[in-house]
Amino acid sequence: MVYAHQIFVCTNQKGSVGRDVAKALKHALKDQDLKTVRTADGEKQRNAVQECDCLDRCKHCKKGPGAALVVYPDGVIYGDVQPTDCATIVREHLGGGRLVTSLLIS
Ligand code: FES
Repeated sequence: MVYAHQIFVCTNQKGSVGRDVAKALKHALKDQDLKTVRTADGEKQRNAVQECDCLDRCKHCKKGPGAALVVYPDGVIYGDVQPTDCATIVREHLGGGRLVTSLLIS
């Protein structure tokens, strides 16, 4: 199945925030019924979350209070993400196509 979005979450911090963010994103996808979506022509696509190593945004990750993550194919990077931000990212970005500007980093 083709991916609608893949979210890669850095888990390179000393603590567990990256893994907690990845778990919260997966729960949000399930809770908001966005694990799979259909395109305008009816094709089924997946939204997936994967853990990864450093995304080279450490100032907004292991040196801050949360984790960095990147949303593909959009190339959007969010930083200092806490588990409590995940429902918003899923609802606004994946569900609504709107950026969560308060978490955006370059
Ligand atoms: S340690 Fe997470 S982006 Fe570098």
